[in-house]
Amino acid sequence: MKNIKNDIERVLVSEEEIDAIVTRIAKQIDEDYAANDKKLVLVCILKGSLVFMGDLMKKITVPVEIDCMKVSSYGVGTETTGQIHIALDLLRPDIASCDLLIIEDIIDSGITLSHLTKYLKLKGAKSVRTCTLLDKPSRRRVEFTPDYCGTEIPDEFVIGYGLDYAEMYRALPFVGVLKPEVYTK
Ligand code: PRP
Repeated sequence: MKNIKNDIERVLVSEEEIDAIVTRIAKQIDEDYAANDKKLVLVCILKGSLVFMGDLMKKITVPVEIDCMKVSSYGVGTETTGQIHIALDLLRPDIASCDLLIIEDIIDSGITLSHLTKYLKLKGAKSVRTCTLLDKPSRRRVEFTPDYCGTEIPDEFVIGYGLDYAEMYRALPFVGVLKPEVYTK
């Protein structure tokens, strides 16, 4: 069987580093929402955020509910048009009493979270904040700053810990840089 670890050029964020990031962010969330009298709902943006969300929610000690959305950019080739398509929406009748915290694996152009935060506010959420494990600020096409950020990374092709290339590598426990020959074949 193919050993996918041979496709990795190097580890960019190790398991230990991820664990420290998750611990730090969970503590910040605990502090920020300690006096919260509404429902805190962690919203996992499928699929990339699954692993981060799973680890983060185990370390948060304030009461949370969880939910999921699936969003994709309307693409033309490899370029996004700047519009998003909501394939799985948040269907909660109680949204007005919810503090939503969107959990992302990575911010690139910023288009997904920029649209999504506006959309969820328009839907009537009490508050909407954002949390990302990885941020690639050099790739921004729209201005966007997350409320919680794990680490900024350079513009490299990263996979693992939820992130994929052609649906592969999501289950790796670290964030790695993919060898260029894998995606230029
Ligand atoms: C990735 C990531 C974000 C989005 C960020 O999702 O999980 O949702 O792209 O990009 P942006 O800042 O340029 O909008 P992707 O479309 O790869 O789907 P996936 O999570 O299912 O892999």
